[in-house]
Amino acid sequence: MSQPPRFRYEEVADFVAGLAGRGTLKPGARAPSLREISTQQRTSLSTAVQAYRLLEDRGILEVRPQSGYYVAKAPPALPVPATARHSIRPAKVELSGLMLDLLKHASDEAFVPLGCAIPNQRLLSSSRLDLVLARTARVKGSQCNTYSPPHGEMSLRLEIARRALRYGQALAPDDIAITCGCTEALALALDAVTEPGDTVAIESPTYFGLLQVLRAKRLKVVELPTDANTGVAVDALRDVVAAGKVRACVLASSFSNPLGCTMPEENKRAVLRLLARHGVPLIEDDVYGDVHFGEERPPPFGALDTHDNVIYCGSFSKTLAPGYRIGWIATRRHMARVLETKFATSLATPVLTQVALATFLSNGDYDRHLRRVRREFADTLARMTRVIEQAFPPGTKVSRPAGNFVLWVELPEPVDTRLLFAQALEKGICFAPGVVFSASGKYAHCLRLSGGHGWDARIEKGLRTLGAMAGRELRRPAAAAGT
Ligand SMILES: Cc1ncc(COP(=O)(O)O)c(C=O)c1O
Repeated sequence: MSQPPRFRYEEVADFVAGLAGRGTLKPGARAPSLREISTQQRTSLSTAVQAYRLLEDRGILEVRPQSGYYVAKAPPALPVPATARHSIRPAKVELSGLMLDLLKHASDEAFVPLGCAIPNQRLLSSSRLDLVLARTARVKGSQCNTYSPPHGEMSLRLEIARRALRYGQALAPDDIAITCGCTEALALALDAVTEPGDTVAIESPTYFGLLQVLRAKRLKVVELPTDANTGVAVDALRDVVAAGKVRACVLASSFSNPLGCTMPEENKRAVLRLLARHGVPLIEDDVYGDVHFGEERPPPFGALDTHDNVIYCGSFSKTLAPGYRIGWIATRRHMARVLETKFATSLATPVLTQVALATFLSNGDYDRHLRRVRREFADTLARMTRVIEQAFPPGTKVSRPAGNFVLWVELPEPVDTRLLFAQALEKGICFAPGVVFSASGKYAHCLRLSGGHGWDARIEKGLRTLGAMAGRELRRPAAAAGT
């Protein structure tokens, strides 16, 4: 799906908004004059005027008569969502019926794409990847038309191991097996360390795809209270682990989905010590690890683990190639079991895409690409947050992830985002209602918004409409009466 062509004035507006979003131009600072920006951006004065009008509409610039344009002062930041404290008893996974509806509409281009966490093709550098894939097919196509070895292609495993070393995770290529996305990695990890009927500790709210996998494997869960900044509550985890209630634990150490939380390093180390002491394996979902907004990638559990107790799961789906379905699982202790199950379920991962990805990684393209997507996602989330501050009802809370491209929004109760979801679909807007992120129907007043599409006027309009609808829902007499 190609992007509609962008007007020059939109590009100029994005350039200035980027300066404001990244703090080069501070709130209250004078923006470059129209003449300066038109010279600097090599554009006409009328294009600069159009760009600045757009920025005024977006609330990024304000005009002061006789004086010029200034960066608007930011409204006070909205609070982050509260940590839900709830029962932490093992329970069966009950999936929300809305999940299928969400998946159906999230991939329909007719809807404003705030639903699923899928990066837009434009952001994914798909055309550069296409070239590498085409060249690989031309040069090595027939060699690739075979089964890959059980671990997957050596060239790709080497590239993954090299990259992991940068953030402190020392892996031999044979500690890695290539999988069909992070989803297969999570499924293989669970198969390696659990039996049907066991209980697994998870974050709450958590990624709905994980809930599907857990349910398919007939596993029970305890949903741990999770802070929107610091992640899972270590004391709650200590209680369930000490009581011998869980067989494994699935956590994201950084930029979780949907909360976007990142555990402080001391909490990560405390979790690792606790789980190793009780012999409970930790399955790490690090699918968003590469999308960090700060300079450094925070170390994953896998890099801090000294007990070989972490089964690390990653993929290229959130940064580069969701359609290639390439992920990996890294474990020394459980590799034999993982390979057995991989053989029994999918036999091998397609070779051509593995070899093409290995080439893309080895020639430095991925690093350049990552720098760009991180900037775009950070910028998009900043703009989305700004519109939420302006257009959502008072009392709204929003997460502040330091990586990732989703926002978790808590609306004032009694707004029910299941009803809001149905109304939004009628208006052509898709978002993810909160209940799909819980195994027990929690978070009916929350929702998740994806910034995977990047920023444009359609996203902004969709967000503003959604905010207005949430406000109306809150004022509706039936909602006020709690029905
Ligand atoms: C936290 C998390 N884990 C795993 C996945 C699935 O990754 P993949 O597409 O590589 O299977 C997703 C996709 O949304 C996700 O958000």
